[in-house]
Amino acid sequence: MKIAVLRETAAGEKRVSASPETVRKFIALGADVVVESGAGVSASLADADYAAAGATVAERAAALNGAGLILCIQGPDPATLTGASPGALLVGGLNPFGERARVDAYAAAGLEALAMEFMPRITRAQSMDILSSQSNLSGYKAVLDAAAEYGRAFPMMMTAAGTVSAARVFVMGVGVAGLQAIATARRLGAQVSATDVRAATKEQIESLGAKPIFVEAVKGIEGEGTGGYATEMSEEYQKAQAELVSSHIAKQDIVITTALIPGRPAPRLISDAQIASMKPGSVIVDLAVEQGGNVEGAVAGEIVEKHGVKIVGHRNVPSRLAADTSALFARNLYNFLSAYWDKDSHAPVLPDDDEIVKGIRLTKDGQVVNERLSG
Ligand code: NAI
Repeated sequence: MKIAVLRETAAGEKRVSASPETVRKFIALGADVVVESGAGVSASLADADYAAAGATVAERAAALNGAGLILCIQGPDPATLTGASPGALLVGGLNPFGERARVDAYAAAGLEALAMEFMPRITRAQSMDILSSQSNLSGYKAVLDAAAEYGRAFPMMMTAAGTVSAARVFVMGVGVAGLQAIATARRLGAQVSATDVRAATKEQIESLGAKPIFVEAVKGIEGEGTGGYATEMSEEYQKAQAELVSSHIAKQDIVITTALIPGRPAPRLISDAQIASMKPGSVIVDLAVEQGGNVEGAVAGEIVEKHGVKIVGHRNVPSRLAADTSALFARNLYNFLSAYWDKDSHAPVLPDDDEIVKGIRLTKDGQVVNERLSG
């Protein structure tokens, strides 16, 4: 089996889908690995690092020629895949809802496209979950981005010239990114509070030494749907949440929002009026900005200022830590593919009735086959 590792071409994408470590591991499974020249440069990995790990370095056409497995971070423009063999597996973060036309084109080209972000959230798949591995580092980076924009310190400091008080950090949405944001803000010495609609997160917030801020008055709402994801909340709950947040937010220096609901636009958590209630110099980081944003006025790819408050809306936050996020993404891909590796044919074999395969397979034999994309 020949594996092609593509150089990413999307604007601002610095990650790479294989590391020298995973190249070595694939070779140990009996594969040949060809890395597109320059694929790792923006993640601090030189062609020579891949060559030292046993890969061949080549231009895209040569890399694709005869490859049975094509690895990527983001789904490539189908026009750049001419020469890929029909039946080849294309594996990466393919953004199936956002790039639906590309999915159709992969099917038309006879490629078997596998979208890693559709990985089911089951125990067996944890080590293959790109959403978790990338969100974790995004949560960390969001706090550092906030600290960089904030004109004050995070920890309380007692100096000869007087005391500097600790920053108050509020994390909204306590999934993978939010938990890491809490932990990071705590490590920096901030006073941290957090909220979520899923009641189960309350204990997690406390266990990290932060204060949970929860709507208690509206009963009977767990906020948790399938796979541990959030569900959309009732109007009554949303109103109660907005009131609670309003009084809390006015006292915060930093707010990090990470709230997402699968398949829906991000819930709006902070209004312009709430921003106006914050102290000038406060900073909000909206990690959901590319999914529609949790914060009114947040702009993807920009840092905007409203009422003296900076609203940070970086795109593709995982790419801002490309060396580490690439290493983890590469391991997610390896963990998935090696779990299905057939020792005799030196290639992955993906059973049609397997839960993971059914979850992530988008196309096969010229057709779009994923049920989340039908209708
Ligand atoms: P996500 O990225 O979809 O959403 C982030 C957070 O926003 C979630 O905690 C969600 O409850 C919250 N949220 C949604 N609407 C909100 C609102 N109106 N106000 C406040 N918060 C709101 O979630 P993520 O990070 O992907 O994790 C979701 C769950 O999946 C977690 O319970 C996590 O532990 C679980 N998980 C399970 C895995 C596995 O078993 N393989 C792997 C990764 C995560």
